[in-house]
Amino acid sequence: MARSRIVVERLRLAGFRNLEQLELTPAARLNVIAGDNGQGKTSLIEALYVVATSRSFRTNRLAEVIRQGNAYANIELRVMRDGQRGEQRGQLSARGRSWRLDGKKPPRLVDYATRTPVVVFHPGDLALVHGSAQGRRTLLDRVALFSDPVSSDARQRYTRALKSRQRILEQRGSGARELAALEAVAAGQGARLAQARAQAAESLGGAVSRAFGTLTGQALALGARYVPGGSSDAGEFAEQLRIRRDKDRLRRSASFGPQRDDLSLDVDGRAAKAYASQGQQRLLALAIKMGELECVAETSHAEPLLLLDDVSSELDPTRTGAVYDFVRQSQSQVFVTTTRPDLFVTPTLSLGERSDFVLRQGRFS
Ligand SMILES: Nc1ncnc2c1ncn2[C@@H]1O[C@H](COP(=O)(O)OP(=O)(O)OP(=O)(O)O)[C@@H](O)[C@H]1O
Ligand SMILES: [Mg+2]
Repeated sequence: MARSRIVVERLRLAGFRNLEQLELTPAARLNVIAGDNGQGKTSLIEALYVVATSRSFRTNRLAEVIRQGNAYANIELRVMRDGQRGEQRGQLSARGRSWRLDGKKPPRLVDYATRTPVVVFHPGDLALVHGSAQGRRTLLDRVALFSDPVSSDARQRYTRALKSRQRILEQRGSGARELAALEAVAAGQGARLAQARAQAAESLGGAVSRAFGTLTGQALALGARYVPGGSSDAGEFAEQLRIRRDKDRLRRSASFGPQRDDLSLDVDGRAAKAYASQGQQRLLALAIKMGELECVAETSHAEPLLLLDDVSSELDPTRTGAVYDFVRQSQSQVFVTTTRPDLFVTPTLSLGERSDFVLRQGRFS
């Protein structure tokens, strides 16, 4: 199936971090957002990500993005795909958030979050290899969101059931009667999530390997393996929760389940986390993002928006060159932020394909 191009025609923001009011009319291929430190570049990229996905890559507390002194943050995105215009809109307040798809409340949040596929690469991603497993779980979930959208509901239901189980364990002890029913729900949804993540790890592994090969120009074998913290078998899952009641009550958290999942990465048979050099780890992080882009493109039949936040500042010139090559070859509409726009040369793009913006204190100057 041919992939659609997705093109943001307009982004409008109000009250988002330091951006009081802003309207961005991007070029179809490449958009370079420049500015000194602290002027709002990451905030702009973050706003694009939030309005497309209903989540932030910077924080789990979405209310943080509301501009100090404002009651609301509003974001509105107009997108063109296959000649069809679509609109996504988000409003955030301290009390909650609302999402609108073409002016209407979406049937499920996942319908909203998959409308405009997007992949972000930000400086925090450079810790994907050596950092905490949380980042790698999020990565698997981003891939699974498109390949198996139901997994996103499973994750929410699982988390809710597990939280209730924990509360009851701590308040009423491991003999409480409601536990069995809650554990059955947690086991069913947790097993479902494990299946989706295992599948995501498999597709991602292949795509990351290929990207890593392209980047390094070497035939280094890259292994990516899903390391489940729970089980993809609901029966076994429920049994484990039952046996672990006392233990989980004492440690005040569940010792079994996908909240303990990881994705292990190794290069030529050795754990990348322990053995790869810092430079190799960064290169691998970049390959992971390229792999994510490939997987999301494959399953969404579209070229996802690509957001690159200030990546060159954290990389050496060779790797920065690799990022730029990647951007030049990409079919996606790209948004990059940088303090050094002069380094970003794109001789192959025509005038209309690239736009440059400069942010100063939250405004375009
Ligand atoms: N909720 C908020 N309300 C108002 N201002 C905020 C809020 N959150 C963050 N800021 C401020 O917004 C400014 C812009 O931050 P941002 O991270 O977008 O800068 P940046 O241009 O990416 O800088 P750098 O080049 O250092 O990465 C900062 O001064 C930050 O303190
Ligand atoms: Mg920044």
